[in-house]
Amino acid sequence: MMILTPTMTGIASPEPLQNAFKVKSAPHAGRSGSRPVNLTTALWHQWWQQPSKSDQRALYIHIPFCRKRCSFCNFFENGTNPERISRYVSRLCEQLRIAADTPFAQSQPFDTVYVGGGTPTDMQADEIAMLGAAISKFPLIKNAEVSLEGRLNGFDDDKWHSALDNGFNRFSFGVQSFDTHVRQAAGRFDDKDTLLSRLNELSQHPSASIVIDLIFGLPGQTLDIWQQDLQAVIDSGVHGVDLYQLIGLGGTRIDRASEKGKILGTDESEFQADSQTRAQMYAYGANLLESNQWQRLSSCHWRRDNRERSLYNSLAKSGIEILPFGAGAGGSIHGHGVMNARSLTDWHQAHSQPTDVIDGATPTKVPGMALSPNPSAELDAIFKRGLDGGTLQFSQLEASLLQQLQPLFHAWQTNGLAQLNNHALTLTLAGRFWNVNMQTGLFEFLAENKSVNDK
Ligand SMILES: C[S@@+](CC[C@H](N)C(=O)[O-])C[C@H]1O[C@@H](n2cnc3c(N)ncnc32)[C@H](O)[C@@H]1O
Ligand code: SF4
Repeated sequence: MMILTPTMTGIASPEPLQNAFKVKSAPHAGRSGSRPVNLTTALWHQWWQQPSKSDQRALYIHIPFCRKRCSFCNFFENGTNPERISRYVSRLCEQLRIAADTPFAQSQPFDTVYVGGGTPTDMQADEIAMLGAAISKFPLIKNAEVSLEGRLNGFDDDKWHSALDNGFNRFSFGVQSFDTHVRQAAGRFDDKDTLLSRLNELSQHPSASIVIDLIFGLPGQTLDIWQQDLQAVIDSGVHGVDLYQLIGLGGTRIDRASEKGKILGTDESEFQADSQTRAQMYAYGANLLESNQWQRLSSCHWRRDNRERSLYNSLAKSGIEILPFGAGAGGSIHGHGVMNARSLTDWHQAHSQPTDVIDGATPTKVPGMALSPNPSAELDAIFKRGLDGGTLQFSQLEASLLQQLQPLFHAWQTNGLAQLNNHALTLTLAGRFWNVNMQTGLFEFLAENKSVNDK
């Protein structure tokens, strides 16, 4: 018998945007038929000698330092300290140069590079230059997207020019909220005017793409403040924006306060939007941006200008090969998931061990975890890309699978989350808000109804 539950379908409601599901289930959906593999030094070495089979690829480079622990975030790994960063970046660049020279790296070009964190903009100008130079040793496609993530505070002109002169062409800054009081409560540094004037300045650049992240649902952030946040996005001159719903991440200050029944609000307000209000916040943002001719590239990302492509994020969702570098970086090599451990001490230690290898240099194998290739990777990528992008084209699916999914798709339609025609499933605004729940629900549906699929 077929299993179809409300966690898969959502529930019927006159207001699906607010009520189709109770809360966003997780930051991302995922399923994996992968299991841990024992990545021996010999296998690691072999990987770097073999050509890649992936025709699109990326580099992900992790810079795990922050100056302050923000109230909402659990990406904080190590405090910013100039000597510590300098030692890390030198080692990282050495590894990148070794890796770039390998047959594996040279075998196919790279479309996009993402230097993420933590706070990569906490690197000094000369370190940003060194990293850019090391990245340029990889075979990059013409017009490759090379992103630097971070924050505006401390990102001075020296760093900006050093980044531009060394190949970076996209800058992703976490703003979270422009409201000075909400920012203070969240542990952010600058006030609204400082942010706006710096963003205006940087966005004047003739080709670099400036994008910012905003979060809705922060303590003290009323609907009114959110509306002002969105107006500020438009006034700032930036080329793209991500609107993220606050996810309750374990271990954050917000999370610890909420366990005690408290809200870390501002002096003005202890308000924190519930899931229904967040749905309204999302809808307000989507409508305002789209009525100002911003183009939606995914359920949470919009662009004002074609220079913004968001290549890394869209290709990462397509499951392309991503070579990870640095403590805490994750990616995939020859179809295997690879996750480097977060400990900086262990990461440094690995580089001081003598290597027992062999012909041809290989970057150091650092502590971490490797997973066997996900047998359904291609199909998962079709679902993720389709649901996140807002349209799932049926021509990409086998007829029997499409047939099997019909009850779920019809339930989504009945519940106001999607519209169906013969060729595609298109998400409504409510569906776009709940798309991670829908992806999770779809994977659950396939797992629960496996036998139907297998017959
Ligand atoms: C890894 S952080 C790096 C940002 C950068 N260090 C900064 O200070 O803005 C990337 C983005 O994740 C998002 N993020 C962090 N914690 C989040 C949470 N609990 N819920 C939703 N988004 C979150 C923020 O919007 C942030 O800009
Ligand atoms: S938002 Fe940025 S600076 Fe703040 S803790 Fe997260 S990664 Fe660090």
